[in-house]
Amino acid sequence: MEVIIKKSYEELCQAAAQAVAQVLNSKPNAVLGLATGNTLVGLYRELVRMFREGEIDFSQVVTFNLDEYVGLRKEHPQSQHYFMHEHFFKYVNIAPQNIYMPSGTSQNYQAFCRWYEQRIKECGGIDLQILGIGTDGHIAFNEPGSSLGSRTRIKTLSRRRLEEIKDLFDEGEELPIYAITMGVGTILEAKRIILLAHGYAKADAVAAAIEGPVTSMVTASALQLHRDAIAYLDDEAASKLKLYEYYVWVQEKRPAAPGM
Ligand code: GLP
Repeated sequence: MEVIIKKSYEELCQAAAQAVAQVLNSKPNAVLGLATGNTLVGLYRELVRMFREGEIDFSQVVTFNLDEYVGLRKEHPQSQHYFMHEHFFKYVNIAPQNIYMPSGTSQNYQAFCRWYEQRIKECGGIDLQILGIGTDGHIAFNEPGSSLGSRTRIKTLSRRRLEEIKDLFDEGEELPIYAITMGVGTILEAKRIILLAHGYAKADAVAAAIEGPVTSMVTASALQLHRDAIAYLDDEAASKLKLYEYYVWVQEKRPAAPGM
């Protein structure tokens, strides 16, 4: 996996936003795979800034989000729908009919999951998939142990996940137990993948994902099998990588490599 290390979270978001801009500049009707989570807030902020300053345009873009909690309506403040609207969609010019998100309130989840996979294919597949990573190395809601060939489906959330989210919900409110999520196999079919991580809390997960064995116990490690996956990290998130020095060296030397 290619590794880009930046000094700060702001810089890594800027670099990742440039990667998005590069895709949109060469393909204005690109299909983007979008993610939620705190890590992504800075990336969306940067993309919104670039949109406002006329550097990028989303008018022809199609988006597919990774996941949603089962049982949460779009208006729920902890839903991924709400997150996307608040941090990104309401500020940019993506046509509402081009926004696809897994539904947390479907009448028939199995049919919905099949339709979602089908829709991605009909739109020509995902050109660029954006990902965050959990502290246990999961991507989307592909909990440790998820099949690396999995497709969009209902996933039972781990107790660890419920622990992480419980404070975000009101006292006495029922926590979601399930999520609808793209599978690892779905994600691996994207033409390009970028993964963002910042902060020391992600350092172990990042090292396991990039340099550990490919294993369903760390679903992000499946990205090692992808030929165009890039990790954008800040110094803290990169701090446990064995090849840290090498990645920095490559970053410095690669632009001058023949054919670049
Ligand atoms: C959730 C999301 C993931 C995200 C992860 C980490 O599990 N489903 O897509 O990568 O949280 O989120 P954060 O960036 O807030 O640490």
